[in-house]
Amino acid sequence: MPDLLPGLADARALLQAARRVVVVTGAGISAESGVPTFRGEGGVWGRFRAEELATPEAFRRDPCQVWAWYDHRRLALAGCAPNPGHEAVARFLLGRPDVHLVTQNVDGLHQRALAALGASVPHPRVHELHGSIARLRCARPGCDWLAEDARRVEADRLETLPRCPVPGCEGLLRPDVVWFGEMLPEAALTASFEAASRADVALVVGTSALVHPAASVPLATLQGGGVLVEVNPEPTPLSRHARWGLRGPAGAILPALLDPA
Ligand code: OAD
Repeated sequence: MPDLLPGLADARALLQAARRVVVVTGAGISAESGVPTFRGEGGVWGRFRAEELATPEAFRRDPCQVWAWYDHRRLALAGCAPNPGHEAVARFLLGRPDVHLVTQNVDGLHQRALAALGASVPHPRVHELHGSIARLRCARPGCDWLAEDARRVEADRLETLPRCPVPGCEGLLRPDVVWFGEMLPEAALTASFEAASRADVALVVGTSALVHPAASVPLATLQGGGVLVEVNPEPTPLSRHARWGLRGPAGAILPALLDPA
């Protein structure tokens, strides 16, 4: 199928010739791993209310409810694996010195694909704009405890929720993800825009491009004189800027687009 896809050969030639590439991913790249996207049919925000589960106010109001949802997602993710799309991006990034990956995904599947190839993670050219569900951090302002932590959380009572191990703190721990109304991590945001503005090509994969500032990252490539390639079964607000729009699933298209001949 991919060989016959309009634009694939041209987009492939563009990417293979480019010196600097920024790959920008969203939930769609993980769809073929069994991770639900946020919008569209079967999307997370069609079944759950973001304001009850993914805001600092919701966590203050009902930390057990928020934790129950995140524990469920963490457990579901433990049963998912990187798909050929994540694997192709990982090979591309490790094979070339000036490829950066900017992801909105908190599922850790890009990192698992890189680790499977022997890379040490976190990788300095991977920028997580919305955090990671695999990490916990202290919710108490002023405490900066943060760690990778795979524990199950019993969320039926406040007493069983995880607490900060810093002596004297004991703040509630929370997933290290960006909730609605929160700032994005500054270092990741700066590195993402820097990489995008220097890139010859922004390859945008599996994002509805509706959530900013993440959706603005590929625009920095355009402003810097680079071009945009989009991989998504559906058009998005970025499609009209794309030199090539490859309409199909990332798991089938990315290996054909990125792997050396
Ligand atoms: P969305 O759920 O908004 O969009 C997913 C995109 O993936 C859609 O454009 C689909 O057409 C596309 N898609 C579906 N299956 C695909 C496949 N197999 N291959 C390629 N593309 C596919 O997800 P995001 O754009 O990532 O934020 O959402 C952005 C942010 O909104 C998320 O990071 C999250 C959410 O609220 C926070 O939680 C802060």
